[in-house]
Amino acid sequence: MEEFRAPKGTRDVLPPESARWERLVALFAARVERAGFGLVLSPLFEDVGVFTRVGEGTDVVRKEMYDFADKDGRPLALRPEGTAPVVRAYVQHRPPLPFKAWYAAPNFRYERPQAGRYRQHHQLGVEALGTDDPDLDAEVVALAWSVARDLGLARVDLVLNSLGDDACRPAYLDALRAHLAARVDQLCDEHRATAAAHPLRVLDCKRPECVSATGDAPRTVDHLCADCAGHFDRVGRGLAALGVPWRLDPRLVRGLDYYTRTTFELKASALESAQNGIGGGGRYDNLAEALGGPPTPGIGFGMGVERLLLACDAEGAFAGPGGAVDVWVVDTTGGSAAMALAAELREAGVGADRSFGGRSMKAQFKAADRSGARLALVVGDREASEGTVTVRDMRTGDQEVVARDLVVDVVGMRL
Ligand code: HAM
Repeated sequence: MEEFRAPKGTRDVLPPESARWERLVALFAARVERAGFGLVLSPLFEDVGVFTRVGEGTDVVRKEMYDFADKDGRPLALRPEGTAPVVRAYVQHRPPLPFKAWYAAPNFRYERPQAGRYRQHHQLGVEALGTDDPDLDAEVVALAWSVARDLGLARVDLVLNSLGDDACRPAYLDALRAHLAARVDQLCDEHRATAAAHPLRVLDCKRPECVSATGDAPRTVDHLCADCAGHFDRVGRGLAALGVPWRLDPRLVRGLDYYTRTTFELKASALESAQNGIGGGGRYDNLAEALGGPPTPGIGFGMGVERLLLACDAEGAFAGPGGAVDVWVVDTTGGSAAMALAAELREAGVGADRSFGGRSMKAQFKAADRSGARLALVVGDREASEGTVTVRDMRTGDQEVVARDLVVDVVGMRL
């Protein structure tokens, strides 16, 4: 029979890795809920227009989107990112502003798979709609920073840029186009053809030709109008007030089209530079309108779960939890004692498991050891006839015989 494997660019996450994953999501949820964000669940697929309308010039939408027609011929796409769906949901439901949403969801991009780059990846993200106050930018950027800190990551750089707005960006783009037009022969094959239509994408290109041709390209921060410059200045001061270290990266334009003003990225220096972006985001003050809603400014970020965990591995941070259960019940009298004891422990809120199939004492202890449980509760013939249970500390080997009626309380005290 053919043996199936997970599709290229996707991964199964099995225990114990999945327990670490769960803890990461819980840590993120706790952090952002303390800042007033509420969980939003939106569909994994949307009308394809939700994405094409906001990213026509980007690889994410043009080349990597999993788009398809459903059985009725409706044009749909698996979500390649999480911002447009949340903004679409805001436009549809019009919740009170500010609308502060968080999510933990998979995204799908037809990328060339490699370590840290998948066709299905998972993002933890927030989106805040309804104000263009730069204090919110500082809070949102600081939130991403504090997630990295909560994980114990020390080698993370925070870079910021401002992309300006409709008032100042057209003049900047003209200046950038002129710079690129004078160097069009030096650009990579792809951007030679598309530089005039999507000049910002050239700044995002990692190929050496484009990097060297744009080394002295005009910088957005030098072309900001007074409002955008004032906004960016206040974001920087807000971050300083919150004690968050950052530096300007004038080349940071990000890989999606909807950004205005503040953009930012967190880079883990412990990872390879092609996949060291552990999170990124920015403002998108025109996105709600582009999706048919009222003009509503917004800002958010997404952090890649897989990359965060890779960065943790590289730094030896955020170790996985210990055993899946605290107690292993070893029963050599047939199994019904183990079933009753495990059920009682679970009712009392203690994680407990056991072996099945009438295995030998030795095999059951081996399973207990492998499980990482701290205590083994042993019911053999002697214990069964005496009405006792032997409690064994799996680390020290110390044993204590306890009355059956008291064993759940004793376990509660020992853990
Ligand atoms: P993004 O930079 O495309 O932004 O993705 C956010 C994060 O997701 C990246 O920093 C990276 O950690 C992770 N990521 C992206 N693609 C992959 C992949 N193929 N494999 C593994 N990890 C990946 C966004 O998606 C925006 N929606 C972020 C945002 C929210 N902007 C405003 N609000």
